[in-house]
Order: sequence, then C-alpha cells, then structure tokens
Amino acid sequence: MVFSKALLLTSFVAISTTANAYWIFGGTRPLVTTRLDSIINPGTVSSHVHSVVGGSRFQATYDYNDLIKSQCSTIPVQPDKSNYWAPQLYYHDPSKGTYTLIPTSFNIYYLMRPGPKNEKINAFPTGLRMIAGDPLRRVNNASSFADQAISYHCLDYNADHTGDPAWDERADFFQHQCPGGMRAQVFFPSCWDGKNLDSADHKSHMAYPIQNYNSGDCPSTHPVHLISLFYEMFVSVDQFPYVPGNWVFSFGDNTVDQCTVTNGDVTQCGILNANINNAAAAACKPEMSIPNENVGFTSTLTSLPGCNPLWVGTGPKPTCNPAPPTPGFGSVKTPLPSGWHELGCIAEGTSGRALSSASITDPNMTKAVCANYCGFSNGAVNVTTVWSDCSSTCAGNVNEDCGGPNRLTLLYNPSKH
Ligand SMILES: *[C@@H]1O[C@H](CO)[C@@H](O)[C@H](O)[C@H]1NC(C)=O
Ligand SMILES: *[C@@H]1O[C@H](CO)[C@@H](O)[C@H](O)[C@H]1NC(C)=O
Ligand SMILES: *[C@@H]1O[C@H](CO)[C@@H](O)[C@H](O)[C@H]1NC(C)=O
Repeated sequence: MVFSKALLLTSFVAISTTANAYWIFGGTRPLVTTRLDSIINPGTVSSHVHSVVGGSRFQATYDYNDLIKSQCSTIPVQPDKSNYWAPQLYYHDPSKGTYTLIPTSFNIYYLMRPGPKNEKINAFPTGLRMIAGDPLRRVNNASSFADQAISYHCLDYNADHTGDPAWDERADFFQHQCPGGMRAQVFFPSCWDGKNLDSADHKSHMAYPIQNYNSGDCPSTHPVHLISLFYEMFVSVDQFPYVPGNWVFSFGDNTVDQCTVTNGDVTQCGILNANINNAAAAACKPEMSIPNENVGFTSTLTSLPGCNPLWVGTGPKPTCNPAPPTPGFGSVKTPLPSGWHELGCIAEGTSGRALSSASITDPNMTKAVCANYCGFSNGAVNVTTVWSDCSSTCAGNVNEDCGGPNRLTLLYNPSKH
C-alpha cells in the first residue's frame, strides 16, 4: 500500500493534567494541493501531489520562524500555524485512462495517551518535524506498529455492514464502494528522543510507545512522551463509481495550559476557543509560490503529476522514460496587471451592485481579470472590512480569493484615478 504522511509542527504547546483529554479540529479543508514536501524534498518539486492543511506560508523550504508569519491557517485555532500533509487521492477511470482529483478534508486529533506508568504528557517541542508511513511500502506487516498506525475506514452511515470483516477498519484499500466516503488514518509516533527536532530519515528521533502504536509507555531511547497526533483524511470516494484499483494515491499553535476536555470539543478548552476563527480558516489561501502545473482542479489528467504511472501489484515502482518535465515555480496568485495593487475587502453597494458588469461566475475570473472592470457605484465606498469576508475562491484560480458574499476585493491603480 502506498501511503506517506508528513508534518511540520510549529508553536503548539499543550499540557494536560487529565489522562484522557483530547481535542479535535474537524472538517479542516486543505490550504493547497500541490507537488511540494518541505521535509522529504526541500526546495524542489516533490515526487507526487499532496493535500496540505494549516498555515498559509507552506512552501518548498521554510522553518519555524517563517511559518509563524503565516497570515492565517485552515485550522480554526488561528495561532496554530502547523502544516500537515498527505498524498492526494485520484480516481482512475480505466476506460478513458484519466485521473480525477477526489475532494479531501482532514480531522486532526490531539490525544493524551499515557501508558501504565502514567508518564507526563509533554507539549510538542517548537519546530518538530516528523513523518509516518512509507510511500514505497507495498506489503502490510501486521506486527509492525509503524504499519498498524496507518489504516483505512470505509464509511457506511447506515451501518448496513456492521460486523462484516470486508468492511472493517483495515490496512489496505477496500475492494468495494464506500457509501459515505473513506477515511485514510494515521497515528504519529508520540515518543521523542528529547534532543532532535528532525533526523535524517525524519523518523528516528521519534518512536511508537512500547505497548502499542496508539498508547503506552515510552522506550528509554525516546523517553519524552508527547501528545499523540492522529489525523484522518476524509476522501469522497463515494462520488465515483467503484472499479477495482480505481483509487490511486498520488503519493499545531500557542500555549495551552491544563486543557482538560475529554469529549474532543475544542470550544470547551478556554485558550483554544479564544483563538478559534472559523471565518479566517475558511478564507485562508496559500501565500507562497508552488509548482506551476495542473494537479486536477482545472481538468482531469491523463497522467498523475510527476513520474507516477499506475502501480499494480507488489513489484517495484514503474519508472518513466523519458522522465516527465519538471515544472517551474509560480505565484499561487495570478499576477495583477502592471500598476494595480490590492487595497482589501469592501462592502457591496448599498443601492445595487457596486460593479454591474463583473461577475464571480465568469469562469476565467481572477483579480487580474477583475482589474479590467473599473470603478464602483451604487453607494460602495473605499472602506475596507475584515480580510476574511472576501473568501470566495476565484473561478479562474483555486488558490486565489475573489470577493465574498456582499463583499468585493478592491483593486487600485493610481494611473487610472
Ligand atoms: C515486521 O515488523 C516486526 C516488528 O517491527 C519486525 O520485527 C519484522 O522484522 C517485520 N517483518 C518484516 C517482514 O519486515
Ligand atoms: C476564458 O479564457 C479562454 C482561454 O483564454 C477563452 O477561450 C474564453 O473565451 C474565455 N471565456 C470568457 C467567458 O471570457
Ligand atoms: C482608498 O483608501 C486607501 C486607504 O485609506 C487609500 O490609500 C487609497 O488611496 C484610497 N483609494 C481611492 C481610490 O480612493
């Protein structure tokens, strides 16, 4: 099974006095879907496409000090600028040979899971990076915690298949349709060596507990017990017909003291709740440059980005000859025409549309296109409001925001004044 997970944690500090405290950031949407992986392939285009959640300054190479400058995060607790990423899943249509990007969202869990010794659960050290899983793994080793930590769950909200082993949580993809979609799940190792924020293989500074992958005491080599991080990537496979082999993988925070919620509801955890801003999370768009290629938002693909031919069976990964060209990097935003700059988000006209001829539904709409529609009327004025009010995704660029409900993104060109 082909599955890797990587993450970068920033300033999230959580300390609990209650053994089973946990909290969940549910339904977190991706920030960006792109071929970048700052842990495995720093500074370059990564081998496969990732779905990335969290801080808006996710980029090819960055560190803690850069990431904390993120304007926003897709995680509702805005001071949490951590990034988490996982391989994107595609639907492969065998008759047409095409790949379609399958919509994804994440549930991120922070769990307090001490073992029999009831060790102190520590906050994540600032700047920790780690990965779980192995993109080259083809065979599940049922006695390995690292392999047990990655699982798949077929969602069937009608519970029509309760008790059927073919529908249970499992180490592999399902051989049948999942009526409510599917969850790919990963449990990160929670024992830290206490010294290194990263390691050459991005794994050895961390270890799974002695008794189990998801709870237990820490081994003497990795004595510092951290909060357990578990996340679920929800994949809407139910939107596509089931054909065997048709699901293809492409391949964080502030100081929290005594956050003792035991039902997972972050809003019951005072300091986390104070920092929740769902509007900002929903409006958050990436800030940095990404590889300039279609990962499947603008059309279906005839091949997966990178060298990722369909890989069937347990043999070695197929190679590409010739190697596909590597895209250059480009701004996530369509550059504005010369002379124009963005002032912010303003309210609509009070007696009609401020812009009568521009429309968000124009399939080519970006801010650059919008700049062609000069002037506003019907009572709209040059007073900016909260940036996150302008949260609608531009039809012509999934990584850019074009106004919002009853709001307009205001662009200005002094030479046209
Ligand atoms: C499976 O995992 C166990 C525990 O980590 C290890 O001892 C064993 O060598 C692994 N088997 C294979 C075939 O890799
Ligand atoms: C959008 O752009 C495409 C390609 O540049 C062009 O063919 C099409 O006419 C444009 N559509 C509109 C509504 O402007
Ligand atoms: C709009 O307001 C901004 C900030 O106050 C100011 O810099 C800009 O010149 C104004 N633009 C127009 C077109 O009035």
